[in-house]
Amino acid sequence: MNIIDIINKTKRQTELSADEIAWVVDGYTAGEIPDAQMAAWLMAVRLRGLTERETSALTLAMLRSGSYVDLSGISAVTVDKHSTGGVGDKTTLIVGPAVAACGAAVPKMSGRGLGHTGGTIDKLESIPGFRTELEHEEFISVVEKNGFAVTSQSRELCPADKRIYALRDITGTVDSIPLICSSIMSKKLAVGADCLLLDVKYGSGAFMKTSDEARRLAGLMESTGRAAGKRVRADVTDMNAPLGSCIGNALEVREAIEVLQGRISSGQLYDTCVQLGADMLELAEQGDNDSVNRIRKAIADGSALEVLRRTIEMQGGDPGVCDDTSLLPQARCSYTLRASSDIRVNSVDCEELGMVSLILGAGRLSSGDRLDPTAGIVMECAPGDRLAAGAPILTLYSSLCSDFSEAAVRALNAIDRSACRIAAY
Ligand code: URA
Repeated sequence: MNIIDIINKTKRQTELSADEIAWVVDGYTAGEIPDAQMAAWLMAVRLRGLTERETSALTLAMLRSGSYVDLSGISAVTVDKHSTGGVGDKTTLIVGPAVAACGAAVPKMSGRGLGHTGGTIDKLESIPGFRTELEHEEFISVVEKNGFAVTSQSRELCPADKRIYALRDITGTVDSIPLICSSIMSKKLAVGADCLLLDVKYGSGAFMKTSDEARRLAGLMESTGRAAGKRVRADVTDMNAPLGSCIGNALEVREAIEVLQGRISSGQLYDTCVQLGADMLELAEQGDNDSVNRIRKAIADGSALEVLRRTIEMQGGDPGVCDDTSLLPQARCSYTLRASSDIRVNSVDCEELGMVSLILGAGRLSSGDRLDPTAGIVMECAPGDRLAAGAPILTLYSSLCSDFSEAAVRALNAIDRSACRIAAY
């Protein structure tokens, strides 16, 4: 085999064998195939695509490049969840505890923020003391005792994906459906839960901008998971507006706790969590056992909040945040943008709001950047709302930056609005 023949085959849409794909992945991970040739192959994949068989082979080759988590010692059925990334997406912090409160076990290996999207690990690290780097034994032990644990991606899992992702990031090859599928699915298969629910997001705040693209990715991830023997289902959900009203790490933890406290029991965030949680239960139990009502009940009766409290305690964090969210870090500065006349909010550019949150300190412009856990945005309106002159549109928070001018201009430009008349009574 040689890499030039392989690049040419993909360029001409000739299907590669599983052996050829494994040879590329192993060769690149071992440093035998140089970046330039791997980048050429990745670009050929980005432009010409891969078949379902090739995508499965790529996923398995990346999976085999590292070690696996052995969850066989956990007595409950294990069910994992993965979101393809969004803005204000704190669903794991709500759904994980709710599903665990209903009897399934949720071993969650999560990532950090990527581009304009947030990451569960960054959010949880805003809880004072919370440890996100658990050894496999401790991770398994928290799941076994409490049903829900979250740890960051272990270095030993899928090293091939780590190398290939870093190259994709600098060669314009991130936005490829087979490459995204194999990257996500190899890591999910390495965690080894019995079942997997995929939350594939589409819209202005997602990597997939259209529901068609999201459906294609969802279908490919389902078939790749099933070919590897996993019980898997993919939901396609809307990310045209931030999920909930908070964007930013401590702000999102606060909002997730407010849902689990029963203080937010309607709206898109709540509804999406109930849907995802019910689908996870159905996957785990292989049937519709009144799962929607059970998830609602686990939230309403406080049992899901109790699971989150114990997870925080077992992972070294301050469980008091579950009763008193003011124990979370609070921003030193804030700036509220108000309507200068009566307006109707037509839509929001969700990706741009994610970028504003990032420049306030909630995300990273380069990989070594330190986060400000208090930074972010609270939306005071949603698409479709009518706001009277003077009403708040959104509030920006930061502890590091007291000059909000750039963020304020960008945030305001991200709100598509038109003049309207609001009758005074
Ligand atoms: N998340 C991943 O882990 N990989 C991708 O390729 C895209 C999003």
